[in-house]
Amino acid sequence: MMMPNLDRRSTPIDRSVVLDPAAGPVEACAASCLARGDSPGAFRDMMALVPGAVTIIASEHAGVRKGITATAVCSVSAEPPQLLICVNGKASVRSTISQSGVFSVNFLARHHEVLARKFSEAGLDHDARFAFGDWMGGSLGAPVLADALSSAVCEVVSESKQATHVLFIGRIAELRLNAARPLLYHQRAYCDVAPREGVA
Ligand SMILES: Cc1cc2nc3c(=O)[nH]c(=O)nc-3n(C[C@H](O)[C@H](O)[C@H](O)COP(=O)(O)O)c2cc1C
Repeated sequence: MMMPNLDRRSTPIDRSVVLDPAAGPVEACAASCLARGDSPGAFRDMMALVPGAVTIIASEHAGVRKGITATAVCSVSAEPPQLLICVNGKASVRSTISQSGVFSVNFLARHHEVLARKFSEAGLDHDARFAFGDWMGGSLGAPVLADALSSAVCEVVSESKQATHVLFIGRIAELRLNAARPLLYHQRAYCDVAPREGVA
């Protein structure tokens, strides 16, 4: 069987389910494998191979700020400028976004790894999370990270539930850009972007 041409230097995929039962456990296929489409473990492994920009999604309602680390953020359209965010239905920021109708997306720079860790730390209360970083109020009230790589304050135009997650589309009301290197998440680790050798 032809296997996908995955980078063999990558960490072996060890939790997937192979499609061909005769092929045995996935450990046998090390860095490349064909997995069942309905396997959550294989799905997570697939997404772990794809580098993601690390963001903090933040919102505020009735004076209470909430925020989480998130990579499920995507551009929807430039005319009008809109972003899509996917938030776990159990995440505390979810109801804050629904109630306020506003959220900010703060794309993190390489020096923000500690923020990414704090805003994804289960059980850490939100005042403790916002003690890290230089947070200010955006035009619509959502917290904005002053030295983010870039940030966008969005008004919710659509909210829909999809399995375990809630998809919010937000129209951008305000955005900020800073020159900095981004923070990425790849193979379950925080990473930095490095220019390729010989390329300016
Ligand atoms: C790199 C990374 C990316 C994440 N991306 C998302 C995401 O896109 N959506 C989401 O709902 N949770 C995401 N999470 C998980 C949340 O950050 C985490 O569950 C957070 O603790 C939820 O906040 P809460 O405990 O206040 O509900 C991510 C976590 C990490 C470390």
